[in-house]
Formats: sequence, C-alpha cells, structure tokens
Amino acid sequence: MQEQLSAILAKAQAEFPGILTRPEYEAAKARYVGPHGELTAIMKQMGAVPKEQRPVFGKLVNETKVQLQALLDATLARLEQLELASKLGPAIDPTLPSPDVGPGTSHPLTLVREEMCRILHKVGFVIADGPEVETEYYCFDALNTPADHPARDTQDTFYLPETARFANVSKKNREERYLLRTHTSSVQIRTMLKGAPPIRIVSPGRVYRRDTTDATHSANFHQLECLYVDKNVTVSDLKALLDYIFASLLGKETKTRFRPHYFGYTEPSFEVDLSAKHLPKVNKEWIEIGGCGMVDPLVFDAVGYDSKVWSGYAFGMGLERLAMMLYGIDDIRHFYQNDARFLRQFA
Ligand code: DAH
Repeated sequence: MQEQLSAILAKAQAEFPGILTRPEYEAAKARYVGPHGELTAIMKQMGAVPKEQRPVFGKLVNETKVQLQALLDATLARLEQLELASKLGPAIDPTLPSPDVGPGTSHPLTLVREEMCRILHKVGFVIADGPEVETEYYCFDALNTPADHPARDTQDTFYLPETARFANVSKKNREERYLLRTHTSSVQIRTMLKGAPPIRIVSPGRVYRRDTTDATHSANFHQLECLYVDKNVTVSDLKALLDYIFASLLGKETKTRFRPHYFGYTEPSFEVDLSAKHLPKVNKEWIEIGGCGMVDPLVFDAVGYDSKVWSGYAFGMGLERLAMMLYGIDDIRHFYQNDARFLRQFA
C-alpha cells in the first residue's frame, strides 16, 4: 500500500513539470484525484483494510493527498506565470532609457507671447496676472459695459452655474455671476484696485467666448492686454507704443492704423489694423489685430483713481492672430491640435 502511494507521488513528481497548458493540467488532476483517479481508487480500498490498520492507512493516504495537492497547486501557479509572461511579451529592461523623442520645443503661441512681453518689458511694462474665472463686475461692470451690451449675452459668454464657488476669485457683489473671462481687460480693473498709479502692465492670457470653431475662431484663445496710467498720457503715446511693438515683432516695414470704434472702457476708442505685406502669406493690406483707446474716466471712477489727475491708455489684441501673421499659419485650429509635424516647425 505504502509502495503504491509512493509510486503515485513519484509519478506525479516526474510528470507535472512537463505540463504546459491548462487542459493538460486538468487532465492530470483528474487522473490522480478525480473520481476515477489513482489516489481515489486507493481510497476506495479503505473498506477492505482490516480495522486496526485503518488509522495508519488513513494517515498515509491523507499525507499523500496533501502532497499531491501541493504539487498540483505549484503546477497551476507555474502555468499562471507562463500565461502572464506570454501576455507581457519578451522581457524588457525598464532601467534602459526610453527611445529618445528629442527635446521639446516652445509652442508658437508661447513664442509670440514671450516675445511681446520682452518687447514691452524693454519699455517698462511689467507682467500682471488675473483669473480666467471672472465675475460680471470685473469683466463688464467696472469696464463701463452697459447691462444690455451684446458681449454679456449668454450666447457669447460662458456663465458658470449659480451654485459654483471659487474661493480664490473675489466677487464685488454677492449676487453677481461667475463667468469665463471674455477678454483680458478684466485684469486692468484687478490691477488698478490693487495699487496706485502710475501703472504700466502687460497681461497675456487665455480668454473664452461661445464661438463656433472654424479656421479663424475658437471658443478659447489668447489675448494680450496692456494698460498704462500716468499723468498727461496722450493718444500719440498710445500710437507710438503700438508702432514700436509691432515694428519690433513683425519688422520695420509694418504699419499701424487706427479706425474709430466704440469700447465702453476707452474714450476715444479705436480698432487697430496692421499692414505687414512683407510677411509670407499675408495677402491683405490691412488686418485687424485688436482694440485700444484712452482709459474712460468712468473706469478710473470705478477703481477710485482721480480722473482729473490721471490719464492712460489701454489696448488688447489676439495672440493667435499675431502668431498667424508672423508665421504664415492659415488655420487657428493648428494651435490646439498638438500635431508634432506642425509644432516641430517652430523649433
Ligand atoms: N477687450 C477688447 C476685445 O476683447 C479689446 C480691447 C479694446 C482692449 C480696447 C482694450 C481696449 O484694453 O482699450 O475685443
């Protein structure tokens, strides 16, 4: 009996390492411990064993059963390892450096933003920042935008749900709504409320409008805002600064033109056009690039500056449009698609 049991164990020990698949494993398991298995057959002989030998016999059978089960478990664990390894594929060395994709490059909008800030920094402008989530007060009211102005319309502006809370964006009035800023002009107000004149800031940043995307529109894009507040500031200072920055960015041949316009926060107000036919792909004589004007006294009133003492100019422009002119890009969507073939060209 004991010999029989040892023989079964020895056979299993010799056989199991050769098992490579689950069906083979199941078949082997059935051969040994299944209802018609070899060990089961021996256990069935229990009845024929004399009563006094039964405890010894039972113990031996049990020990064999435990050992067989351990062999089966080890085989199954080995099969699972094999299955995992085949799923993972050939072994790799994770300590090796990954295939080199080369260094990254600055995005064209980053390049234009930084260049504009550098140009403005040279003449004394410092960078100011403001939140992209704004309130009606900073985005419209303080900028003297009438309550019925179309820019405030829910068709043009993304308003946040009334339940939304932004602990880091201060409201002026409790009942005003949060929105995504439609222009960087809100930074003018936040900056003036923070300090006293003179002020000379440039504020680049992301803005949001409910525009349908096409080659020249995007629901979020970038602007660059400037504000200068001092004594005796004139329209010719404004024109001179714009001439300087566009000549610096786009080349000396660039011409700047003002067209009268209306903005609530400046008086007089102008739209700014650029002529830069020397640039590749610029095929129009005049391209509108932004708005500007002399800070409206009502805006100074809103921030508590004495408008009899202080004067200033402000302007805002689209960074995408500038980058498109500078680099000859014909579709605004290229900026946001992260296509390496596009981005690599600015390396
Ligand atoms: N905020 C205007 C826009 O988004 C641009 C603008 C016009 C900015 C006149 C100004 C300004 O600072 O004075 O179209």
